[in-house]
Amino acid sequence: MKLTLNIWRQESQSTTGAMKNYVIDNVSEDMSFLEMLDVLNEELIEKGEDPVAFDSDCREGICGMCGLVINGQAHGPEVTTTCQLHMRSFKDGDEITIEPWRAEAFPVLKDLCTNRESLDRIIQAGGYVSANTGAAPDAHATLVPKDNADRAFMGAECIGCGACVAACPNASGMLFMGAKITHLGELPQGQPERDARVVSMVDQHDAEGFGGCTNLGECSRACPKGIPLNVISQMNRDLLRAKSHGK
Ligand code: FES
Repeated sequence: MKLTLNIWRQESQSTTGAMKNYVIDNVSEDMSFLEMLDVLNEELIEKGEDPVAFDSDCREGICGMCGLVINGQAHGPEVTTTCQLHMRSFKDGDEITIEPWRAEAFPVLKDLCTNRESLDRIIQAGGYVSANTGAAPDAHATLVPKDNADRAFMGAECIGCGACVAACPNASGMLFMGAKITHLGELPQGQPERDARVVSMVDQHDAEGFGGCTNLGECSRACPKGIPLNVISQMNRDLLRAKSHGK
């Protein structure tokens, strides 16, 4: 395949970026999207040009590091992570526009790399349970009903890639936050800090510059792990519950 790539190039957080045009030939449909960018970068390095900076780590769809807006869609035309998107989703002669996540809370560091530490700070604000150290408790000492366990596992599937934020016209991080709150709120171990958790995480979310949810659902549609919109309802219910308890 021969492709034309329009890629966002930006030297640093403090400089202005611009789209730049590249033509790449001999792209196999079996390549992943990131492997295609690797090939482009090898060509750029051979020509003495600066390679395109982009994030990746596991390249197996589990770590949440990768994240590009491809032709206007977070992670591209398939519902998956950018590293699991393959070039068979495109055809010979296609023009592909590649941009970083766009959100006030995700400043561009260089080219396609964004700083997503704002998500880490939301977790630091309350996305944990406090447990006494010591001997491991007996297995099944704390029973969890199957429905709650299933829903906790569903929330735990969020890999924190930020596609929900990139897809949302309000750049809201509420699907991410709702997934974490649901994950812990469904478990007995998550109950002691349940009220303080939601208040603290929502405050941090707003302080980071994420927008509010207006129920558009773009976040859930873009989520590579299929986190449903109802985790946001659960977060809102938990917030009301915490406020009713005077938190
Ligand atoms: S690089 Fe880990 S999820 Fe894509």
